[in-house]
Amino acid sequence: MSSIQKAADTRGLAGQTIGDTKVCSVNQTQLIYRGYEIADLAANATFEEVSFLLLEGHKPSTDELARFEAELRDMREPHPEVIKVIHGLARSAPNAHPMNVLRTGISLASHHDPDCEDNSAEAELRKSKRLLASIPAMIGAHQRGLEGKDPVSADPSMSHAANLLWCLSGETPGEIATKVMDVSLILYAEHDFNASTFTGRVIASTNSDLHSAVCGAVGALKGNLHGGANEAAMDMLRDIMDDTTQDSDLTVGAWMTRAFEEKRKLMGFGHRVYKNGDHRAGILRDWGLRYANEENASAKKWFDLGDEVQQIMFEQKNIHPNVDFPCGMTYYSMGIPVPQYTPIFVASRITGWCAHIMEQHANNRIIRPLAEYTGPELSNWND
Ligand code: ACO
Repeated sequence: MSSIQKAADTRGLAGQTIGDTKVCSVNQTQLIYRGYEIADLAANATFEEVSFLLLEGHKPSTDELARFEAELRDMREPHPEVIKVIHGLARSAPNAHPMNVLRTGISLASHHDPDCEDNSAEAELRKSKRLLASIPAMIGAHQRGLEGKDPVSADPSMSHAANLLWCLSGETPGEIATKVMDVSLILYAEHDFNASTFTGRVIASTNSDLHSAVCGAVGALKGNLHGGANEAAMDMLRDIMDDTTQDSDLTVGAWMTRAFEEKRKLMGFGHRVYKNGDHRAGILRDWGLRYANEENASAKKWFDLGDEVQQIMFEQKNIHPNVDFPCGMTYYSMGIPVPQYTPIFVASRITGWCAHIMEQHANNRIIRPLAEYTGPELSNWND
């Protein structure tokens, strides 16, 4: 290698293709779920249709969709013990992170799932649907417990997105709130071998069960380099707003320069695959801004600030926002509590995870890569 050539940094498996999938394609120019492009899905499909596409492998017919939606509506209430424990944790452990509580809820649900230990394709599809249908009620039970309120029963008359908002707030959501939530769930549903999906596939590859693989995936999603960035992005925007309001000499640019000097990562920016922008970010920003314009004018300031941060980040670092950046502003405008942003991500990505776990089990070989040893040289114990 010449001295001016730099070895590729392959830490974190950067740039490595480690398997194939029929579920999703992620590249610089397109994001495709089973043959359908993300902008097409966000504009023309519902989250239920996208969930069917991911889990069943093809676009649903009218009859298939009706059957699928009815099944999900029937399975929205988790086992009562799950709700009792999750709701109780809000009081006994109020500082527990909602992602950890949701992971506990999913783990607990496994004990009451009659198919838990059955890894057949049919059983895994049933388990996937039960989790997809019931996760909104788990998220809602925890949030309402934190607010000192009783959980509400899941509403079988609502769409999946509307029921999620209902379970969280106990209020019937309006049309635009439901639409924005639905689009965000579509955008978050799947993203090939991202860290949480890969985690799920590794667990599944040992012949472990679907719930165990999903619990591992929840743990991986929680971190702020991955799904946890939607909460961290909003926390950062609030810090910038507070700091620049309290100190009128401090500009947004100066705040960011300080962050760059301190080598801090700005949350909601950058991506391992997308170096020219995340296909999902602009779609969600436009829907979030539309929500603010129509329903919550005071929230528009977050989009103005977000645009300024985005502009400076591009000019100074040539780094684009990922989907978590507009997600923070969008959910904040909608009045959703910040610590529930990543659990909502789970309510969507459960579809992608389950599709991958089923794909792994359908053609399994244990995932067991090699490591390059860099430890001490061999010594004799008695020397
Ligand atoms: N803020 C500041 N600098 C950044 C950022 C950022 N958000 N992202 C990347 N960079 C810089 C890095 O410091 C690095 O600079 P250097 O070459 O001078 O060291 C360069 O850009 C390349 O970045 P990497 O860290 O090599 O990118 P990697 O692919 O390893 O990490 C990641 C990708 C984790 C998304 C990273 O961009 C990051 O930490 N972003 C913030 C967290 C975030 O938003 N995560 C959500 C991702 S999307 C999702 O999971 C749904």
